[in-house]
Amino acid sequence: MAVWNGRFKKSLDEEALKFSSSIELDSRMYNEDIDGSISHVKMLAKQKIISVAESKKIIKAIEEIRKEIANGEYQIDWTKEDIHSAVEERLVRKIGDVGKKLHTARSRNDQVALDERLFLKKEINLTIKLISDLQKSLFKKAEKYKSVIVPGYTHLQRAQPILFAHHLIAYIEMLERDKERLKDCLKRGDKSPLGAAAFAGTSLPIDRNYTAELLGFSGIVDNSIDAVSSRDLIIEFISATSIIMMNLSRLSEEFILWSSSEFSFAQTDDAYATGSSLMPQKKNPDFAELIRGKSGRVFGALTGMLTLMKGLPLAYNRDMQEDKYHLITALDTTKDCLKIAANMIDHTEFKADRFEEELTGDLSLATDLLDYLVRKNVPFREAHHLVGKIVALCVERGIKLNQLELSEYKKFSSAFEKDLYSLLHPMSSIKKKISAGGASPKEVNRALRKWKRKLSSE
Ligand code: ARG
Repeated sequence: MAVWNGRFKKSLDEEALKFSSSIELDSRMYNEDIDGSISHVKMLAKQKIISVAESKKIIKAIEEIRKEIANGEYQIDWTKEDIHSAVEERLVRKIGDVGKKLHTARSRNDQVALDERLFLKKEINLTIKLISDLQKSLFKKAEKYKSVIVPGYTHLQRAQPILFAHHLIAYIEMLERDKERLKDCLKRGDKSPLGAAAFAGTSLPIDRNYTAELLGFSGIVDNSIDAVSSRDLIIEFISATSIIMMNLSRLSEEFILWSSSEFSFAQTDDAYATGSSLMPQKKNPDFAELIRGKSGRVFGALTGMLTLMKGLPLAYNRDMQEDKYHLITALDTTKDCLKIAANMIDHTEFKADRFEEELTGDLSLATDLLDYLVRKNVPFREAHHLVGKIVALCVERGIKLNQLELSEYKKFSSAFEKDLYSLLHPMSSIKKKISAGGASPKEVNRALRKWKRKLSSE
C-alpha cells in the first residue's frame, strides 16, 4: 500500500506504478536514506515530538533494515515507489504503529533532497580519489620518460619539440582543476535541506540545525522552498564530470593517435587492446575510444538535467525524480572512465627513441633560428620572414634545416654563423625554453618535483 493512500479508493495501476517507480536508482542511496532517518528520529525525540523509547525502537529496526538490504535479505523491487517508502513500509511491518511515527514532520521532498546531498558527498570524495589515481599514473610515466623528446603540435602540425613529461604534466594540471571543481561542489552542497518538509516547513517544533549537525553539514539550506526545489548542485556536479570527461576524451584521442602505425609511439600491453574479427594484424586502442565515446553519455546527462529543470515552477515537481537517472549516468560513467584511463596508462609503454633523430634538423626548429636572429639584433618581423623563406627553400628541396649549407644561410642574412647548427637539435631547442612553466628540463623537473610532493600526500 502506498504511503499516500488515505484519499484513494484504489491502489495504483500496476503499469503506472512500474512507470513511476524510481527505486531502481534511488535504492543506491539506501544508506544515506537510513542515515537521514536516524538523525531525524533522534531530533524528534530531543524535541519531545516522539518519546525516547519510541526513537530507540525505530532506530534499532531501521539499522536492521540497513543490514537486510546490504545482505540481500530484503530485496527491493519495483513494486515500491522509491527507497523512502520502501524503508518506511518495511519498518512498519517490523515494529507496527511506532514505525508510523518515522515520517513525522518530514516529506519525501526534503528526504530525497537530503539523500542526494549525502550521496553526492560520498561519491564526490570517491571521484576525487580516482582523479588522484589517474594523476599518479600519468606522473609515473612522466617521471619514467622524463628525458624523452616528442614533437609538440598546434593545429596537429609539428610545432616545436618538447619533453613528453611536459605534455603529460599538462594533463595532471587539468585534472587538478577537475578536483577543485568537485571540491567546490562539496562546499556549496554542505547544507542540510532536511526539515523543509513538503516545501513550506512544519508547524511541529523541529530543530533543523540539530539534524544538520548530526549529519555532518555545516548548516541548513535557509529557504525551505529552495531546499526542496533546487537541483543546481546536481547540475554543478554533472558539469564538473562533463569537464572531466572532456579532458579524458582529449587524452584518449592522443592515445589513439600515439597508437597508430604513423605515430608508432604508444605500445599498449595486450591486456589493454583488442583485435579485429577480420583483419588478423589489428591491435586496436578500444579503451581509449570507448572513453572518448562515453563522454557523450555524460554531456547528454548535463543537457538532460538542464532541460529537466528549466521549465519547472517552484516547488517540488515529480519531473525532478528523473534527476537520479542523469546523476547516476554521469557518476558511473565518469568513475569507470577514470579507472580505465589510469589502467590504460599503467599498461602502456612509450618508444623512448621514437622522435629524437627525426626531429634533429627538423623544420620544427625554425623558431630557434628565428630567436637566434633576434638575439643578433635582427628585428623580429624581418627575422620571421627570413626564416620563413629558408623553410620554403628546404621544403622545395626536400631537405632538413641542418642539411642547408652555411653559405646558403648567409644569402638570407649575414647574421648567420656556423654556430647555428648547434641549435638544430631538439634538445638544444628544449633547453632554451627557460621561461616559467616552459619546455626546459629545468622547468619540467621543477614541475615533476611539485607533483611528486603534491601527489605523495594523497
Ligand atoms: N521518488 C521521488 C523523487 O525522487 C521522491 C519524492 C516524491 N515526492 C512526491 N511528492 N511525490 O523525486
